[in-house]
Amino acid sequence: MQPDNATNFIPTVADHASAAQARPDGDPHRPRFHFLPPANWMNDPNGLIQWQGTYHMFYQYNPNGPFWGTIEWGHAISTDLIHWTHLPIALAPTPASYDSDGCFSGCVVDHDGVPTIIYTGVQREEQLPCVATGDAELRTWQKYSGNPIIAAPPEDLDLVAFRDHTVWKEGDTWYQGIGSGILHIGGTVLLYRSSDLRHWEYLHPLYVGDQSQLQPVWTGSMWECPDFFPLGDRHVLVVSVWNNHRTLYPVYFVGTYADHRFTPEAGQRIDFGDSFYAPQTLRDTAGRRIMWGWLREERDVEAQLAAGWSGVMSLPRILALRPDGTLDIRPAPELARLRGRRYHLQDRDLAPESPVDLPEARGDCLEIVAEFAVGDATQVGLLLRRAPQQEEETRVYYDSPGRQVVVDGRRASLSTAAHSGEARGPLAVAQGETVRLHIFLDCSVVEVFANEQTCITERIYPTHPDSLGIALFARGGPARLTTLDVWDMAAI
Ligand code: FRU
Repeated sequence: MQPDNATNFIPTVADHASAAQARPDGDPHRPRFHFLPPANWMNDPNGLIQWQGTYHMFYQYNPNGPFWGTIEWGHAISTDLIHWTHLPIALAPTPASYDSDGCFSGCVVDHDGVPTIIYTGVQREEQLPCVATGDAELRTWQKYSGNPIIAAPPEDLDLVAFRDHTVWKEGDTWYQGIGSGILHIGGTVLLYRSSDLRHWEYLHPLYVGDQSQLQPVWTGSMWECPDFFPLGDRHVLVVSVWNNHRTLYPVYFVGTYADHRFTPEAGQRIDFGDSFYAPQTLRDTAGRRIMWGWLREERDVEAQLAAGWSGVMSLPRILALRPDGTLDIRPAPELARLRGRRYHLQDRDLAPESPVDLPEARGDCLEIVAEFAVGDATQVGLLLRRAPQQEEETRVYYDSPGRQVVVDGRRASLSTAAHSGEARGPLAVAQGETVRLHIFLDCSVVEVFANEQTCITERIYPTHPDSLGIALFARGGPARLTTLDVWDMAAI
């Protein structure tokens, strides 16, 4: 079955005929400190949970190649959020059954000590909620004999889709939100109630989006992968915006939850790049809300097939509420464990139009924290993965007149198979405030956190083995680098 997420760069079974032998390890674009399966296709994170101290990550996985299809649940565990151990497949389609064409996205909850998966079983055109229970180690899973647990979507609504699950408990009662869209109106999350996770009663939409509204962010006609959770004194709804067979971007709404209805007060994209999609969160025992998203490729289908792998997980991101009601998003502090050799620089004036090369900080596996006083510059930031003759480079900078963070990957690669574009996200910097660019560079991944509020993730595929340079730059007027740290990052 073809996925709805048919962007240009998602290879499907139909493309498989031309696939070369998988050789993931020889690929210079394969990330080294981001999680990804040993080979083949990966998309959404699923069933994120910390269980008896161990972090479990499940994910949409195709064991048959680096293309979307025959979707199972891959599984990995970690005790430190950073290093992962691969485990056997958790959930696979049962032939000639309600999930014969795929075990789509879902979540894991603790049902009185029994780990329980709620996922979407796919059989031909039908996508319905299903349940499976696990052993104490979450290794082997038993599908419930009464699957699917909801026989059909609500009949009185004209729905665009019905899949992906967020499940939580209030008192003794379980609630489930299912991703959907109401035709000609907008995306929605449909709310159900149950006492045993097997028998569900439909209540009403938790919240309905408006596809005619463009501001502050357009939310399309259908929502995939809902995730609903309390954060501080508010509730947060995260959904991934789908429209007209294209998976666009995840958004969050921060608001209030009362009488089983959600009312948003603020909303925005979670990441302004083209790669980050279908995020999910868990709450750890320290009370932190941690998010991961699927980083999809931005290179041709043929290049993904030749590489033998496709898709990588974002770094773990910690969410918090900002005083203005928007989200504070920053990388998990545990990542600092991967830091190796450090390069440091501070208090450096940057003249316009004369980039400062940093030969000692070169690399393609780096963590960078750079802080700038913008001054009179119209642009200030860094040039990454720079070729000696500058025929390849990726620009990460603050655009002062536009009040935006920018990742410009249009000149990242000379290869026509690479399609990194220019991504922009809003960043309001107050008078006297510095711009802080926290960047993780991991081969083809560029993950940027600007002032702990605007994230941009892009994928880049430089062709030149020497495209490893770093430089600082200003344009339009002078700026000042207040401080810079660059660490080599260890592989996981
Ligand atoms: C999001 C998504 C989900 C679906 C899964 C299938 O990327 O389309 O809606 O459950 O991928 O792999």
